[in-house]
Amino acid sequence: MKLNRILAGLAGILSFSSVYGASISAPSSSRHGPKVEGRQSTAVCSASDATYSSQKIPAGQYTDWGALGLDDVTSGQQFVTIVNLTPHRFKLDSTHSYQMDKFDWGDIPSGRARQNSVYYTTRLTANPVDTGGEAYYSIEGTSKKFEIRATTHIPDTYWRRTVIDLSAMGLGQREYLDPRAEVPVTLVITGSDSHGFMASLTHGSGNWMKQMYDVIKDRPLQHLVMPGTHDSGMSTISGEIVSIGSAANTQTQGLNLYDQLRVGARWFDLRIMSVHQSDTTDYAFWVAHVNDENSDIPIGNTGESLTDVISEINRFTSENPGEIIFLKLRYLIGIKRLPGGAIRWDEGIANNFFTELKKINNRCGNLDTATPFQQRPASYFMDQNDGSGCVLFLLDTSNIPSGVPSTSPSDGIYPASVMAVTDHWSDLSTTQPVAEDQIATWSAINRASPFTNDRFLIAQWLVSADALQTTALTIQNIAIMPTNPALYWAGVNAMSPTKWPNVLLVDYIGVVITDQFAWNQLSAELYTLAIGLNLYMLSENCDVSAQRSPLLPSATASTSAAKLALQNIAPSWNGIIFANGTVLDDPPAGLHFGRVEVLKNGTVFGNGTVLERDVRNPHL
Ligand SMILES: *[C@@H]1O[C@H](CO)[C@@H](O)[C@H](O)[C@H]1NC(C)=O
Ligand SMILES: *[C@@H]1O[C@H](CO)[C@@H](O)[C@H](O)[C@H]1NC(C)=O
Ligand SMILES: *[C@@H]1O[C@H](CO)[C@@H](O)[C@H](O)[C@H]1NC(C)=O
Repeated sequence: MKLNRILAGLAGILSFSSVYGASISAPSSSRHGPKVEGRQSTAVCSASDATYSSQKIPAGQYTDWGALGLDDVTSGQQFVTIVNLTPHRFKLDSTHSYQMDKFDWGDIPSGRARQNSVYYTTRLTANPVDTGGEAYYSIEGTSKKFEIRATTHIPDTYWRRTVIDLSAMGLGQREYLDPRAEVPVTLVITGSDSHGFMASLTHGSGNWMKQMYDVIKDRPLQHLVMPGTHDSGMSTISGEIVSIGSAANTQTQGLNLYDQLRVGARWFDLRIMSVHQSDTTDYAFWVAHVNDENSDIPIGNTGESLTDVISEINRFTSENPGEIIFLKLRYLIGIKRLPGGAIRWDEGIANNFFTELKKINNRCGNLDTATPFQQRPASYFMDQNDGSGCVLFLLDTSNIPSGVPSTSPSDGIYPASVMAVTDHWSDLSTTQPVAEDQIATWSAINRASPFTNDRFLIAQWLVSADALQTTALTIQNIAIMPTNPALYWAGVNAMSPTKWPNVLLVDYIGVVITDQFAWNQLSAELYTLAIGLNLYMLSENCDVSAQRSPLLPSATASTSAAKLALQNIAPSWNGIIFANGTVLDDPPAGLHFGRVEVLKNGTVFGNGTVLERDVRNPHL
């Protein structure tokens, strides 16, 4: 009986992997859906089950770049972006606010995002310490509810704060610092009532691909979505070369490779050079970022050592086997510590470099390259190394002289040409044109049968400002204030089941407040977005996913396995994270941090009613 049920589940290919299920692969004949009559027929993707909404969403507003350079931004405006990657509508039940010139919230339909807008009054007669408001949502067709609170903490540096309260869903509460005026705080929710929800307040387990094995295993790599990092190894400035690259204008990440992997990144842009002392036979390999690696006097700096990169990746894969990790390596040329011209690699340097790369575990040697990698299903890579997955080296060898060894496929070190990639860099200097250019690029690919222009697309969601502006504002602030948050309203609302990029490549992944790089200070927007796009958005495209969307209620016995998988990605936790980093794992029942007790005379309700006396908050 039990075996029959397992087989039925496999035939239906609608189960998530159970804890050990990832090592069981479905018969290949089931790829195009089961040919079984009766209840299993519900296991097939059907266009009529789609829940994605194409409802028009109010336009959002880009952060004012001009104001970014100023310390005393006077704008009273804050934004809270909510992303809904579930088959249910998020319905706004009620709001109330005090001393807000605007408190604009609304429903978020399935598959869409809304940038809600909150205007702290700048009226001089107001007593600003009391300014605040609350928005109450329910998830339609379920018993689930959540709340968002705008709060004030004068005289703290970060005096506007947003509390996201998902405690009624069992997903905790978190107090976010509003990074500054006009910079959104973001909430991403995915999952479903039948299979459980997860949200962006915390990062879950590191092995999100393996946890979703049954959802993604048959999809070619060009039908996956994953976070990626730009100039991945520049998470520190190590100063191995004498140049003028500083943290402000050269550091692109706040987390090392191990933490980037834990926050979900799978595509890495690594630029590696041999750095030579005056005796050029004395050298070591470093990640670097320079304006031109072939120039006599490159401007830039070095980041992590290759040794550290390797041990960080090995640490992650030993803890989280089963993922596909893409290491795109570039530069591959020598540089002198003191300016003095590029050094092309000879056989000795190249061989030493390969000796280093071979220290990476879970390499995948001798893969079949007859089919381009982007067209191979995820399971082809995830099943390698007895299910421990692949760390794939893809080398841009253009700087390696001919005659010098440049790849070693038997060791899993491949030329980048084994995988056709459209790596789209906008090279534009502010957020809005970059966003519009990236959106136009992924919108031009129609991910529907017969897939005439299908491809693996890297969307570089990052700004390339000029050197002066970058140095003044810092790459970090340009990333985390105007640029990354725009992905969740402008970017998401330009995605659909047939429109999306494969890699969302960012600077400063996981970071939401300047220089806050500790684990509990990070936020899981990109992690949750990538999981939700694979789980929800792409599953609603029957040309991409033959199986019934894993988030819809299932007719077979696999529901509990699906629930388990979602819980494994985002373990159940109903605590509170405060903005100062303090975490309360078991808060007292009924504690809703930041909820006001008394609604003051003058409080405005969403329906327009204005209070004429103080009343107790009815939600207490
Ligand atoms: C952090 O903030 C919380 C809530 O305001 C407070 O109870 C706690 O004492 C603070 N912890 C520290 C270490 O300041
Ligand atoms: C407006 O909402 C408040 C709070 O929910 C409620 O007490 C009041 O009766 C409502 N007013 C109207 C006109 O519906
Ligand atoms: C509420 O505020 C209004 C406007 O300031 C004032 O006229 C009114 O007396 C207040 N009501 C009470 C009960 O204090």
